[in-house]
Amino acid sequence: MNSVLVIDDERNIRTLVARVLGQENIEVHPAATGKEGLEMAYEVDPDVALVDLRLPDIDGIQVLRELRTRRPETAVIMITAYGHIESVVMAMKNGATDYLEKPFQHLEKLRISVARALEEVKARREISRLQGMQEGRYKTTQIIGESGGTRRLREIISQLARSEAHTILVQGESGTGKELVARGLHFESARRSAPFMEVNCAAITETLFESELFGHEKGAFTDAKATKKGLMELADGGTLFLDEVGEIPLASQAKLLRCLQERTFKRVGGTRDIKVDVRIVAATNRSLETMVKDGGFREDLFYRLNVIPITIPPLRERREDILPLARHFLTEANTTFHKAVGRFGPETETLLLAYPWPGNVRELKNLVERLVILSTGDTIEAGELPNQFSGGASEGVFPADVTPREPRTLAAVELAYIQHVLRQVNNNKSEAAKILGITRQTLRKKLAEAT
Ligand SMILES: Nc1ncnc2c1ncn2[C@@H]1O[C@H](COP(=O)(O)OP(=O)(O)OP(=O)(O)O)[C@@H](O)[C@H]1O
Ligand SMILES: [Mg+2]
Repeated sequence: MNSVLVIDDERNIRTLVARVLGQENIEVHPAATGKEGLEMAYEVDPDVALVDLRLPDIDGIQVLRELRTRRPETAVIMITAYGHIESVVMAMKNGATDYLEKPFQHLEKLRISVARALEEVKARREISRLQGMQEGRYKTTQIIGESGGTRRLREIISQLARSEAHTILVQGESGTGKELVARGLHFESARRSAPFMEVNCAAITETLFESELFGHEKGAFTDAKATKKGLMELADGGTLFLDEVGEIPLASQAKLLRCLQERTFKRVGGTRDIKVDVRIVAATNRSLETMVKDGGFREDLFYRLNVIPITIPPLRERREDILPLARHFLTEANTTFHKAVGRFGPETETLLLAYPWPGNVRELKNLVERLVILSTGDTIEAGELPNQFSGGASEGVFPADVTPREPRTLAAVELAYIQHVLRQVNNNKSEAAKILGITRQTLRKKLAEAT
């Protein structure tokens, strides 16, 4: 429901406004003095304020100025005495949306003026909502952690954000924050207002790779019904994030290399060289060096990408980050799930610190979310942690069903561990495969065999 504040010392004006706007289904808050009006404005945050220019305590222009700074989204309509043209000019210069002359002879004018102001406020609110979303996206790139490694990481990001470095390679185990770093590099840099485009190289086929990246001309192949820009072109001025870069098929690697070397490319089926200014941030959780040795990744492309390498250590190697991250995720989860869990108990914290975190920060985040949702008290106690924590440091990762009381076959223990990891990553198969150090195909096979 829209709300209007009316600040006027004349009672009949307040009642008139309340009656006329009340018919339009607008909530009206009356105030008789400037001071009372401002207090009410801070409290109800009205869409529109009607302010009498001559108030008993504070000058109306003063009230207007105060509203403009403290409640910038509220539209202000000044009420002036008939014929006071100087004060109208003054009001408009100070940011009033409109003015109404007393006595109100044409009530229609009041309705129209308020309706127009409401429209304006709606537009203004929409703009600040969009800006807020932008900032929100930016905020998600906040990198939490107190370890030396993470501090250095933040420094490197801000240095690189200011530099013109064109290729950056981010390496780290699954869930360590590679994507977060890639976004940080973009949103902290001068490129932030240009697009951040991303492509998961593991998810596109060899045949599609080239056209996804470089686009295609109409008729380049059967399905090419129209000319299409590729990600490289769409990211012009910004950043292209090549996630899981190790998964690019060999044939496509050659094409990417050429593009990186020459900084130009052609659309599939096109003849024109297209030049773009794109920063490439590539990420991988596999060792590209090992892949180069095994022949799975081109050495020349590796050197091209590896100009500025950033390696994010696994969480178990930066334990100082565990509690700051856990507390950060606790606050976030409270907001998301409308809960008010205050803290982790001391014993819980000890167990969190001792755990090896095979799924790294993602695993920690998922765990904290689950704990917050399930929690009924103010403190998360050790008993609320899942089984794999209960043994403390000495028993390590293995959940109860992997260290059974009765002897079991190797296959059974293996399956139990696979299921344990799957639970940890919310059943995300490719995630689980990464943690287990096997391919998705192998994982699928093992699961199929078990049933
Ligand atoms: N230092 C950090 N501070 C705050 N949040 C973090 C941090 N590191 C990781 N995260 C969060 O953990 C989750 C996993 O991070 P991200 O997706 O960046 O990992 P990744 O390295 O890209 O993993 P994968 O290799 O599986 O793609 C995300 O929700 C991310 O926001
Ligand atoms: Mg990722």
